Amino acid sequence: MLKQNSVKELEPSCPDENLRPVIDITGLSFTWPKGLDPVLEIEQFRVDRGELLFVIGPSGCGKSTLLGLLTGILLPQQGVVEVLQHKISCLSEVARDRFRADSIGYIFQMFNLIPYLSVIENVILPCQFSALRRERVLQQASSLKEEALRLLGHLNLNDSRLLAKPVSELSVGQQQRVAAARALIGGPELIIADEPTSSLDTDHREAFLRLLFEECRSSGATLVFVSHDRSLAPFFDRVVDLNVINKVSGGGVGDLA
Ligand SMILES: Nc1ncnc2c1ncn2[C@@H]1O[C@H](COP(=O)(O)OP(=O)(O)OP(=O)(O)O)[C@@H](O)[C@H]1O
Ligand SMILES: [Mg+2]
Repeated sequence: MLKQNSVKELEPSCPDENLRPVIDITGLSFTWPKGLDPVLEIEQFRVDRGELLFVIGPSGCGKSTLLGLLTGILLPQQGVVEVLQHKISCLSEVARDRFRADSIGYIFQMFNLIPYLSVIENVILPCQFSALRRERVLQQASSLKEEALRLLGHLNLNDSRLLAKPVSELSVGQQQRVAAARALIGGPELIIADEPTSSLDTDHREAFLRLLFEECRSSGATLVFVSHDRSLAPFFDRVVDLNVINKVSGGGVGDLA
């Protein structure tokens, strides 16, 4: 019974979904529990299907908070957050978890890798939680491992000695690339990347961005990439300054890089 309800909740409300924005935020207000004032107040924010979007803003201005709201990890006190035609607040917790597992590849600021699993096991993890992503991989590759190795190879992480290690023994930059491969596996429709290049040197940063863009373009995925590093902006289709769309004044401190 619960399963049937969940399936119904996840049906898109508009049949012609390609014409609708992938992200559509209206009248959003979010305050952290115990917070006195809102961190984010956004009247309108839209992202079209297939866009490669760069969201810039200084430390503390609410970038990670915005991403938490897009993925349904956080819920707003006011307003509507619609992602891939689903009104996030209208989904049950179970449906939100399933929606996230099926549709969103999330590169976390702190990576959130499972420390005792190997590199390959971490990369294929989303396919254990999402049958949809697993099926997509197996339509194109003979195994999940093969696809994990393809993605890792693009990120210069296919050395067999590295792959055998638990991820806790990798460098921070290597972990960041494992987190990227994990987000991309199974072609989720929306890729969300929270400061994903902060620990990478120039060469690895370029390989990382190239893979991200190639995978998004070939699958038609939409990319929302947040960073305070303005030098990355020219690589993207569109740049949005969070402090411009966020009505809460004085969001964040420090200079933009
Ligand atoms: N779990 C939390 N509980 C309460 N307040 C929080 C929490 N996480 C963040 N905040 C507050 O919300 C504001 C925005 O934080 P957020 O982490 O979204 O900023 P950010 O732009 O991602 O910063 P950075 O570039 O340093 O990652 C900050 O004032 C922060 O103190
Ligand atoms: Mg952050």
